[in-house]
Amino acid sequence: MSEQAEIGVIGGSGFYSFLDDVTEVTVETPYGEPSDSLFLGELAGRRVAFLPRHGRKHHLPPHRINYRANLWALRAAGVRQVLAPCAVGGLQTKYGPGTLLVPDQLVDRTKSRVQTYYDGHPLPDGSVPHVVHLGFADPYCEAGRQASLAAAREYGWEPVDGGTLCVIEGPRFSTRAESQWHAAQGWAVVGMTGHPEAVLARELELCYSSLTLVTDLDAGAETGEGVSHEEVLRVFGENVGRLREVLFNAVGKLPAKRDCGCGNALTGLDTGITLP
Ligand code: ADE
Repeated sequence: MSEQAEIGVIGGSGFYSFLDDVTEVTVETPYGEPSDSLFLGELAGRRVAFLPRHGRKHHLPPHRINYRANLWALRAAGVRQVLAPCAVGGLQTKYGPGTLLVPDQLVDRTKSRVQTYYDGHPLPDGSVPHVVHLGFADPYCEAGRQASLAAAREYGWEPVDGGTLCVIEGPRFSTRAESQWHAAQGWAVVGMTGHPEAVLARELELCYSSLTLVTDLDAGAETGEGVSHEEVLRVFGENVGRLREVLFNAVGKLPAKRDCGCGNALTGLDTGITLP
């Protein structure tokens, strides 16, 4: 494809709709269709590709998102650094609605999502991915995390630096017992979309970091009725403007040259395939 980007933002139209000169590009992948087209624009002198994770009409629930196609499409468009904002519930009362938390750890509690490219599925060029086991001890790109933290501080929205994002299968919210268990582990926030995005990005040697906005206290951290979708949408809507400001600021702070190690995740491994 001719239009290229260097940074990817996985998030809805609230993040790109008012940018001047946005180009819509459709990308085909060996894994089927991404959630939507990529929307390419320029920010802080960097070419950015926005991908609405749930589709522009928000028709894809978290468990039906084609995460493999999404990350592949971004890489095929030239993207090497990904910022992934998402709405989450707070698992600790100190992380109430409106908290901005940049996680440094992840717990995968999803159940039905394909989370590797290295599964023997042949690519259109006839190559077949080998079995590959990647290190994932630290799931997020530290350079990306630092860019988001610095951007939030500069904006005046003090972020929480670190904490564990627990990713559940959804689309339902957690039961109170599940949530109390997650909270008792000391995990910070719970969401439905941060995984397998994170590991697929690693498998494509992309930098990936997440920027979470707490929209509610999860059932185990509050005494009321539990979370509702309306509450999540309302609080997200109230905060999307400042989240966008922080994200845009973070784009400008991502290093132009990557020396974080994410780009070498596959070095020395015989993967059997060539990445786009
Ligand atoms: N997204 C926003 N709030 C959430 C919650 N409480 N649990 C899971 N995902 C969420």
